[in-house]
Amino acid sequence: FSTVDVITAKRDGGRLTDEQIDWVLAAYTRGDVADEQMSALAMAILLNGMDAAEIARWTQAMIDSGETLAFGDIGRPLVDKHSTGGVGDKITLPLAPLVAACGAAVPQLSGRGLGHTGGTLDKLESIPGWRASLTLEEIAAQLASVGAVICATTPTLAPADRKLYALRDVTGTVESIPLIASSIMSKKIAEGTGGLVLDVKVGSGAFMKTLDRARELARTMVDIGDAHGLATTALVTDMSVPLGRAAGNALEVAESVEVLRGGGPADVVELTVALAREMLALAGITDVDPAHVLASGAAYPVWEAMIAAQGGDPSVALPVASHVETVTAERSGTFTPDALAVGVAAWRLGAGRARKEDAVQAGAGVLLLVDPGAEVRVGTPLLELHTDTPDAVAGARAALDGGLRITDGPAERPALLLDTIR
Ligand code: URA
Repeated sequence: FSTVDVITAKRDGGRLTDEQIDWVLAAYTRGDVADEQMSALAMAILLNGMDAAEIARWTQAMIDSGETLAFGDIGRPLVDKHSTGGVGDKITLPLAPLVAACGAAVPQLSGRGLGHTGGTLDKLESIPGWRASLTLEEIAAQLASVGAVICATTPTLAPADRKLYALRDVTGTVESIPLIASSIMSKKIAEGTGGLVLDVKVGSGAFMKTLDRARELARTMVDIGDAHGLATTALVTDMSVPLGRAAGNALEVAESVEVLRGGGPADVVELTVALAREMLALAGITDVDPAHVLASGAAYPVWEAMIAAQGGDPSVALPVASHVETVTAERSGTFTPDALAVGVAAWRLGAGRARKEDAVQAGAGVLLLVDPGAEVRVGTPLLELHTDTPDAVAGARAALDGGLRITDGPAERPALLLDTIR
């Protein structure tokens, strides 16, 4: 094969053959296709798309670039969840222990955050002693004993995606539905889960800015799951305002613990329960109501066991930022903070990283003092900015400029659950 022939076929709007797809991804993983060539191909795919059969084959070739996990019989059905990412999206933290408390096992292999959306591992690493990296034996043992594992993905899962995602990040080719869908699904299929629930976010704080695009991404991923025999359901959910009140690592862990103890913000509880219901349905567990289990606090001991199994002490106080400032309302009306503005503010305060090698601050972030959709008056404290680096506050305030919307409309949060795609 000639790499240039593959690139020009897609550049000219053609479809790639199975053989071309298998070859180009294998050769890229080996280092025989250069980054500049793969960049050109990624751009051609972004501009001209791929049909369903091409996407399924591309996903298979990404899976085949590495190893696939098989946990064997651990005595419970395996089911996982993936979110396309948002601001304040800590749902994995209460969800994994909840679903385990209801009888399934959740193998959550997660990543770190880049940009304004937080990474699940960054959040959990704010717990003193907690360890993200586990061996496959440790993952399997913890799935059998605790029922939930949230840990770092292994470098051997879909290595083609690891290389390609880093390249897309710097070549303006992230926002291609075939490339996003195959990237996410290759990792989840390789992980060996028995069922998968996707939370596809839509709104200012998400990759997908319109409901149509979010639905198309969801449909594409569900179809890939079907083509690979992985039962997949997608919820399309709002990300125009932050989820819950906390955006930032330890702040989000604290909010998750509130939810696990039967309290917490209504939207976080609603989405956690909605995703748990879909996961349990895929796992064939129909006689347990996750809303009851969550409200009763019965998932909290599973959380403690999950954190302790990975070296963390769930009873130790979480880190807090050394500097806190309050922002108040400049007018009266309905408060609907913009998700992207809050996400960028939290990121600038130190909760996120600009480059892969940057460290994050455990205590940094934004804590809303009123729920999105609530009525506020001039001078009402709206939110707190938390950071260890007070110099960062000016940048955070600039990010929030224009994003703390207070309008004269009816007071309520935008609908959270927008669609379900099976
Ligand atoms: N998340 C992924 O894992 N891959 C993408 O392409 C986009 C988001």
